[in-house]
Amino acid sequence: HPQPARLLVLFGATGDLALRMLWASLYDLQSEGLLPHDLRLLGTARGELDRAGFQAVVAEAIQRRVAVSELREEVLQSLLARIDYIPAELGDAASANRLCARIAELRTGDIVYHLSTAPRFYVPICQILAAHGLNDPGTRVMLEKPIGHDRASADAIIDGVGRCFDESQVYRVDHYLGKEGVQNLIALRFGNGLFEPLWNARYVEQVQITVAETVGVEGRGDYYDHSGASRDMLQNHLLQMLALVAMEPPVAFLPTAVRDEKVKVLRALRPISADNVAAETVSGQYTAGAIDGVAVPGYVEELGRPSNRETFVAVRAHVDNWRWSGVPFYLRTGKRLPKRCTEILVQFRGVPHSIFGGGAQRDIRPNALLIRLQPEERIELQLMSKTPGLDRHGLRLSRVALDLDFHEEFATQPRRLAYERLYLDALEGNGTLFVRRDEIEAAWHWVDGILGAWHQLEITPRPYPAGTWGPSAAMTLAERHDHHWRD
Ligand code: BG6
Repeated sequence: HPQPARLLVLFGATGDLALRMLWASLYDLQSEGLLPHDLRLLGTARGELDRAGFQAVVAEAIQRRVAVSELREEVLQSLLARIDYIPAELGDAASANRLCARIAELRTGDIVYHLSTAPRFYVPICQILAAHGLNDPGTRVMLEKPIGHDRASADAIIDGVGRCFDESQVYRVDHYLGKEGVQNLIALRFGNGLFEPLWNARYVEQVQITVAETVGVEGRGDYYDHSGASRDMLQNHLLQMLALVAMEPPVAFLPTAVRDEKVKVLRALRPISADNVAAETVSGQYTAGAIDGVAVPGYVEELGRPSNRETFVAVRAHVDNWRWSGVPFYLRTGKRLPKRCTEILVQFRGVPHSIFGGGAQRDIRPNALLIRLQPEERIELQLMSKTPGLDRHGLRLSRVALDLDFHEEFATQPRRLAYERLYLDALEGNGTLFVRRDEIEAAWHWVDGILGAWHQLEITPRPYPAGTWGPSAAMTLAERHDHHWRD
C-alpha cells in the first residue's frame, strides 16, 4: 500500500505546463491545507538557477494565475518554503548523479516524480532513477501525455518505463480526468438510480461528445504539427470521456475496477479502416477567419509553412457491445471553433407513439441529457411540456430544460484546476483517475486505424474558416443518419 508521498520531484519545473498549471495547483492545495504537512517539492530543469531565483519564477507563475486580490502572501510563502531546485542536464552523467544524490538526501518517505518534459526524456529519466535505486515500491512516476505518437512508439515508451517501474507505480495523466465535470459524470451515472436503466441502445438514440476550442496552436506549432487533433485530443481526452459514458458500472470507484471497465469499451470500438474511413470520419484545417469578431490567421499562416495536419476531427464511432449496439457516438474536436465548450449529449429515442395530432405532433423532440463540462459545469435535462395558454388548433408542446448549474448550486466552492485532484491522488497513491497501459494501447490501436486509412487513401483535411464549426462535411456525417450536431 502506498504511503502519502513526502517528496514531489517535478521535471520540467520551469516549462510551459508547470508555469501555467502545476505550481498554481500546488498553491491551491497549500492554501486549503491539503498537502501532506511534511511534503518537500524539488524542481528540476536545465536552467542554471539558484533556489531563490527559482522561487521567484514560481512566485511569478502563481501570481499570474491566481487573481492578485485572492493571492495570500502567507500561503505563497509557506509553499515556497517547501521548494528546492536543482539544475540538471540529463545527458551529463555528473549532473544526473548530482540530481539523484539530492533526491536521496531529501527523501524521508514515498516519492512522486512528475515528468512534465518532452516524452522522449521519459525513458532516459526513468533509467537514471532506476540506476540510482530510486525506483523502489515507495516511488511513483507521473507521465504527461502524449505517450507516443502511435501504438508502436507508445509501446516503446511504456516498455522502457516499465523496465524501471512496475505498472502500479506509473500514473499516466489525462488532465480531463482531473476535471470536476468529468468526475461528475461518474457521480451522475452511478450516484443516481434514474439514468442507468435508460443508459443503453434500447433508449439511447445517439451520443455526442464535443471538445471545441477557440484557440489556435499558440506557439506550440512544432508539437502540434507533428500531432494534429486526432493525436492531441481524440486519442486521449475524447476517448476517455467516451469510455466513462459507455462503461459498465464498475464494482467500486477503485483503480482496477474503473480501469477494467474503461478498457473494455476502448477495445469494443468498431475499427475504422480504409473501407469505412471516408464515411465515418471528417478531418479539417482552419483557414483565416474571425472569432468573436476578431480576425485570426489560418493554421498554415500561424505555422509559417505548408501543412496537411488536421486541426479538426469528427468521427462517427460505435461501441460494438451488447449495451451500445447500433448507437452512434459522434465525437468532434477542433481548434478555432466559434466557442470554447466541452459537452456530452445523450439523446434518447423519441416516444414510441404520439397521442397528439396536428401541431403538437410536429413539436415533439426526443429527450436529451446535456452534460456541460466547460466553460461552466451544468447538467440539463431536455423535456417536452405543454406550451402555456390557449391555441385555437389545440395543444402545443415546447421543449423545456431542467437545468442545474453547479456553480450556483455549490456557490461557495472555488473552481478547481484539474491538477489539484491529480496531484492529491498521486501523492496519496490512488491511481483511479490515471490511465492504465492497456487503455493507452487500445486507444492508439483505434486511432492508428483512422490515421493509417487517411494516409492510405491520401485523405487530406478539408478547409474551414476559423470561427465556424469545422468543414460542412462534419455536419453531413451526422445528417446522413438523420442526426444533428448540437450547436
Ligand atoms: C491538451 C492539448 O491536452 O488539452 C491542447 O494538448 C488543448 O491542445 C488542451 O488545448 C485543452 O485542455 P483544456 O483543459 O483547456 O480543455
